[in-house]
Amino acid sequence: MTANAQPEVYEEAARDRLAFWEKMARRLEWAQQWDTVLEWELPYAKWFVGGKLNASVNCVDRHVAAGRGDKVAFHWIGDGERDRRDVTYADLHRQVCQAANALLDLGVQAGDQIAIYMPMIPETVVAMLACARIGAPHTVVFCGFSAEALRSRILDCGCRVVITVDGQFRRGSSAPVKPIVDDALTACPDVRRVLVVRRTGNDVAWTAGRDRWWHEVVDEQSVQHEAQAFDAEHPLYIMYTSGTTAKPKGILHTTGGYLTHVSATHHYVFDLKPETDVYWCAADIAWVTGHSYIVYGPLANGATSILYEGTPHPGDKDRWWKLIEHHKVTILYTAPTTIRTLMKWGAEELEPYDLSSLRILGSVGEPINPEAWIWYHTHVGGSRAPVVDTWWQTETGGIMITPLPGISEAKPGAAMQSFPGVSADVVDNEGKPVPNGSGGFLVLTEPWPGMLRGIWGDDQQYRDTYWSRFKGAYFAGDGAKKDEDGDLWLLGRVDDVMNVSGHRISTTEIEHALVGHPSVAEAAVVGASDATTGQAIVAFVTVRSHVADEVANGERFAEELRNHVAAVIGPIAKPRQVIITPELPKTRSGKIMRRLLRDIADGRELGDVTTLLDATVTDLIRERMADRAEEREG
Ligand code: WT7
Repeated sequence: MTANAQPEVYEEAARDRLAFWEKMARRLEWAQQWDTVLEWELPYAKWFVGGKLNASVNCVDRHVAAGRGDKVAFHWIGDGERDRRDVTYADLHRQVCQAANALLDLGVQAGDQIAIYMPMIPETVVAMLACARIGAPHTVVFCGFSAEALRSRILDCGCRVVITVDGQFRRGSSAPVKPIVDDALTACPDVRRVLVVRRTGNDVAWTAGRDRWWHEVVDEQSVQHEAQAFDAEHPLYIMYTSGTTAKPKGILHTTGGYLTHVSATHHYVFDLKPETDVYWCAADIAWVTGHSYIVYGPLANGATSILYEGTPHPGDKDRWWKLIEHHKVTILYTAPTTIRTLMKWGAEELEPYDLSSLRILGSVGEPINPEAWIWYHTHVGGSRAPVVDTWWQTETGGIMITPLPGISEAKPGAAMQSFPGVSADVVDNEGKPVPNGSGGFLVLTEPWPGMLRGIWGDDQQYRDTYWSRFKGAYFAGDGAKKDEDGDLWLLGRVDDVMNVSGHRISTTEIEHALVGHPSVAEAAVVGASDATTGQAIVAFVTVRSHVADEVANGERFAEELRNHVAAVIGPIAKPRQVIITPELPKTRSGKIMRRLLRDIADGRELGDVTTLLDATVTDLIRERMADRAEEREG
């Protein structure tokens, strides 16, 4: 079978970038054609201006209308063995219509923001598409985030409705979810309605007048809903992500350009053949990878996907391989941290299984080390399936730098080149493109359809964060190099953002959480290298004078602080290590020298220490770290 992408696609896009994107936009169903492809007033872009479409119709109705209603959209595999459900496009259509009607009944109008706090179940997809269908932008919050994290997102976004579950399953046991929502809502006076999907069946507290069961409100609705088309630039969703400040930023995505970008990249990068492929993106729906490559991209393309609630864990090392064999998965898309975990468990776990259905392997979220790339290609891909290392961000909406299967050369560890119609470059400190063989900062020099349309409610931060470092270009926050052939290699963040297991976590946000503890005076957080998770969070903390030495130096106190961070932000932000120290290394002007802390955390020789105010501090911290290591071994 011929690949979706032919080499000419690069030339075609280079010849006329906008015409290429128009062609991609025509893969969708529009209720009204656009007048202008792009209006670009740096730093704000409008794509397909004057065009109207409905994202939910594009993801669902048009496939049903084309006679593909019986095609499976999702093979859902829940946490436990017993939980399995196939959802066809016709099922999805009925459920999305019902949910849309229910939201309208609850008083939701186009332009109202809705928070979705749900695990990996089909209703989460239904909820998102129902919001999109009626023009209510959703903000999906990862179900592992704390009440405080959920509350700050609801408030920042101005949500008036929350959709959630009673509880969720994780590795066979249930955990409450609704109580976290109740806690968050104690200080969200504008939330009028909470719609609750019954997942675990455990008892939950109920606020009369505010809380409604999904099955009571949704199931009785009509399975028909006439969808209205919205402007191409109508907000589709807001996704919060960590930056260099303490407060996560709400990244705004709109409808027409975004859907064009995610569906086109999904088609070419994964060489998707909707009739025969079984596609599995193993991310959580709550992250941008899930939005773009579980929900909007694959559904717009009419794909059949796996929707899997679990994550790989040591008690069930061959679960993934069983699933791939059973469903004859053809395309797998996951993060390097998962690949390294599976690699640690060994190829013998997958040897008993027939993985020959796999034909494309994707990687995303962090730089993939050549060793993991080669293991993935050799053992999972049977040395046959190409690996596509895809670079992009919450802000870019969709894939930006990637090889294309069948036509690109592959180099283990390289993301290779810009997707057709995308312009990435590597520049030096002055913003000048570096020659081949050199490194620098990754920038995007032309607007692209899936680009963010700003930070929710903060124009200045949008300009400052992305558009002020280099004139006329988008600054991604990543380091990169061009090799001798001009191919791109991603080198990780150049700012105070860590990447832990492919999750973006801000050092500042964790420092903020730590100093919120009554016993903490100062905190400095760094990302240390970690063989499995890429980076790991290490915090250095000084305590307030009222805290006795015995307390501060005890292992229990460090543990309390780790748990404190997990409670404030969520378990994914829990530091691997908290080191209590009498002082933090500072410059004479009082700036904490994080660079030295990174060296210490990685056990490296210290770099330049000439600006350090008190050189004994670093020795002290090193001793502390050594003591802790000994205690743990002892
Ligand atoms: C940051 C964006 C894109 C969805 C998942 C993460 C890093 C992402 C790669 C890659 C090297 C990568 C970058 C980027 N990153 N993909 N293939 N190679 N680094 O989305 O949470 O917005 O994080 O993830 O550092 O800036 P995100």
